[in-house]
Amino acid sequence: MAIAFESLYSDIASRNGRLVAGKKIIRTPALLPVINPHLQLVSPKEMQQMGVEALITNAYIFSQSSEYRDQVLKKGLHSVLDFDGVIMTDSGSFQLSVYGDVTITNIETLTFQRDIGSDIWVPLDIPTSPMADHTTAAQELAITMERLREAKEVFGADAPIAGPVQGGIYTDLREQAGREVGNLNFSFCPIGAVVPLMESYRYKDLVQVVLAAKRTIPSSACVHLFGAGHPSMFALAAAMGCDLFDSAAYALYAKEGRYLTTHGSFKIDELIELPCACVVCRTHTAEEIRTAKDRIRLLALHNLAVTLAEIARIRQAIIDGTLWELVDERCRNHPQLLAGYRELLNHTETLESHDRVSKRRFFYRGNESCARTEILRYQRSLTRLRLGTDVLVACDGGVREGYDDVLLFKPPFGPYPQELSETFPIGQSEIPDWDEAMVRQGCRGIQALVTGHPESRIAVAGLRDWRGIIREVCGDTIEVID
Ligand code: GUN
Ligand code: ZN
Repeated sequence: MAIAFESLYSDIASRNGRLVAGKKIIRTPALLPVINPHLQLVSPKEMQQMGVEALITNAYIFSQSSEYRDQVLKKGLHSVLDFDGVIMTDSGSFQLSVYGDVTITNIETLTFQRDIGSDIWVPLDIPTSPMADHTTAAQELAITMERLREAKEVFGADAPIAGPVQGGIYTDLREQAGREVGNLNFSFCPIGAVVPLMESYRYKDLVQVVLAAKRTIPSSACVHLFGAGHPSMFALAAAMGCDLFDSAAYALYAKEGRYLTTHGSFKIDELIELPCACVVCRTHTAEEIRTAKDRIRLLALHNLAVTLAEIARIRQAIIDGTLWELVDERCRNHPQLLAGYRELLNHTETLESHDRVSKRRFFYRGNESCARTEILRYQRSLTRLRLGTDVLVACDGGVREGYDDVLLFKPPFGPYPQELSETFPIGQSEIPDWDEAMVRQGCRGIQALVTGHPESRIAVAGLRDWRGIIREVCGDTIEVID
């Protein structure tokens, strides 16, 4: 019955893993398309054929529907939706945040979710508005936590119940919430109330809030980013350690005539070409979609295909260890995503502890790459190098006599002994011509070497035009020769 999560590969803080809900297993990161029973643009069966392993629907809609309520209680959710994968049900919380009122209690919605055979149940948490002040956010969080406690008490420790993490925009409350859901032994933790942040492109705030929650949610728990919709932000969210996304965007955008791509969305009315490999785009022209009777459905099918392909790309990137490159690429598609990415890079310290040791490659993509986890880790490891008294860092690779140890230099990492030239990251990194940011970062590596070896005298040779930078970074603690 209980929900379990297992991570197989990690990259940055992301996890390529498996979520087990009852007898069903899905791969993560995963997309759970949102199904509205009243408006199915793409049927769950078709979704399954497209590779969807789990979906999410709203129990509140079923419970309030004269058409569905009795049917779903009698036949069960899987039969009514004709889907035998994982079905997660949301409570009325989203309606609560949008309309301010729901006529159901926490226990009533959970009982209903159980009775219709849902695989993952969500209590009636309170999605706190980003406008709420700290006192209000704390009060609402206390109510949410009380309901989570009540859920565990009434339905038992093993019931497949999600523990939403709330707290508004306050990082201290998000940390508190993460800690408390962990203490209550929730193994499935959606991060809630982030939809308004994403809708207004507040990706920097989103990163702060998600990372605050991630700092305290147990690493063994599966983390779901509630309402994460646009595929251009999945890589960023995965890098923070979000394992699941639920998306209504494929349908909502379709209804507005919008065509999703991983680097933004377009109005179908303005497109001449269809830059996509999905079956809809390869069998229709833009004009044909525009004028089709089932235009909304065609757009929804395309939007879903694009979204699922991005999830597959992220999973592969995690296996290869190339997620930083994907995040960098995606986050250059909107200035506010770039702001979110830069905020993520302010948390390298936290991310480094989750990141893995060896990866397929490191491609330098400009100064943002200098703040990557691999560099922090590499430069920390320099302290452990065993060095003699007189050490030379030969930045040009030239031979000079009279030193106990001669190291080479590769920015943005820094100094390295010949023996490491084939190992990650030195051996698997590709850099263009040196630029100031990478040399400066490499010089910080030299500084780390100096700090870690007070017994050694360290000189630097062959920096040529970049000599000014080593002086700026290391001051007079180091000898600089030609
Ligand atoms: N859907 C989007 N955000 C939320 C949230 O914070 N809680 C719940 N239950 N559903 C959501
Ligand atoms: Zn397409």
